[in-house]
Amino acid sequence: MTTQHRINLEQNGSAYACAEDDTLLRAGLRAGLGLAYECNVGACGSCKFDLLDGEVRDLFPEATGLRAKERERGKRLACQCVPVTDCRIKIRSGDEYVSAIRPQRFKARFVGRTTLTRDISLFSFATDMPARFLPGQYAMLSAPQLPQARAYSMSNIPNKEGIWQFIIRHVPGGRATTFLFEHLRENDEMDIDAPFGIAYLRTEVKRPIVGIAGGSGLAPVLSVMRGAAGLAASAGPVLLYGGRTPEDIPDVPQLTRAAEIHVDYHPVISAPEAGAAQSWGGDVGFVHEFIERKLSAPLPDYEYYLAGPPPMIEASVRLLVGDHKVPQDQIHYDRFF
Ligand SMILES: Cc1cc2nc3c(=O)[nH]c(=O)nc-3n(C[C@H](O)[C@H](O)[C@H](O)COP(=O)(O)OP(=O)(O)OC[C@H]3O[C@@H](n4cnc5c(N)ncnc54)[C@H](O)[C@@H]3O)c2cc1C
Ligand code: FES
Repeated sequence: MTTQHRINLEQNGSAYACAEDDTLLRAGLRAGLGLAYECNVGACGSCKFDLLDGEVRDLFPEATGLRAKERERGKRLACQCVPVTDCRIKIRSGDEYVSAIRPQRFKARFVGRTTLTRDISLFSFATDMPARFLPGQYAMLSAPQLPQARAYSMSNIPNKEGIWQFIIRHVPGGRATTFLFEHLRENDEMDIDAPFGIAYLRTEVKRPIVGIAGGSGLAPVLSVMRGAAGLAASAGPVLLYGGRTPEDIPDVPQLTRAAEIHVDYHPVISAPEAGAAQSWGGDVGFVHEFIERKLSAPLPDYEYYLAGPPPMIEASVRLLVGDHKVPQDQIHYDRFF
């Protein structure tokens, strides 16, 4: 059995067990604690902590989630540190980070891939137990052939059959995506650790839903819209989807038809000079530039779910909060670092 260490939290005196092969963040979430986080991959900086006592091993010392000055002052990232001894740490926490479904590690069998665009595919995995997550959440996928886990958002909804679906873009030269696209074979096993993320569907909210997605950000937004389909408040979800060229836009109407949901869908391309743009009759620009034009009610009347590249998210949030005074708690997002 893997050695366990005791992690004591300075701020409230609580403690939890963390295995030597688990990160301080994920073990804390597994224990039901609301440790602050967003990305799980060392990029956002939300999980930074002070090590007051004990020793940890940093899996990713180059992670961009900490500035050099913060590292010099001894700050570390809970999503990238595993314990070497018992530890005492000071870390931000809050009820909003407590997992409604505690993350678990398990094996999943790869059952197939469907091509959606030249570099985006839908990957399906099967597990022996039900797929338990909230629409909009993500999983950490890893395999012995990969040095570290990567985050991928589920595009389907929870189900008792144990099916996990992901929409993944092949990043040129990317370690994990090259493995997934080029080396993974049917029936191969991968390790999943899930679910994570706080940009999940708020079922209690009655406002109509707006999804704003770029590239592979389609996955969690699709999951949210599928999850909302049975709810009274789900009337008329709007989906704005941005890609570079027409070739980068998946057949979203086909995906939503297959999922048996109706979505008011607006694709936008940002690079009209590239590819087959001449034949594109639709909108051209950055996806956030179309938010005002595509929504008929005042912008604070909607609930927003965003996923994709950080600049797309940041521009959209600036517009929604800065220009239109949409309350921050009506905007839920995952930045795909
Ligand atoms: C919350 C979240 C959800 C995401 N959902 C999706 C999705 O649904 N679909 C999708 O296509 N992509 C998604 N991504 C992006 C995805 O996780 C990968 O970053 C992307 O697929 C590129 O991975 P790669 O290994 O091919 O590329 P690489 O360029 O090899 O790796 C890039 C990623 O790996 C991390 N990394 C690099 N070196 C290390 C290291 N030594 N230790 C730890 N981490 C390291 C980087 O911080 C970066 O996140 C998501 C990202 C986040 C944060
Ligand atoms: S959650 Fe650790 S850096 Fe983002």
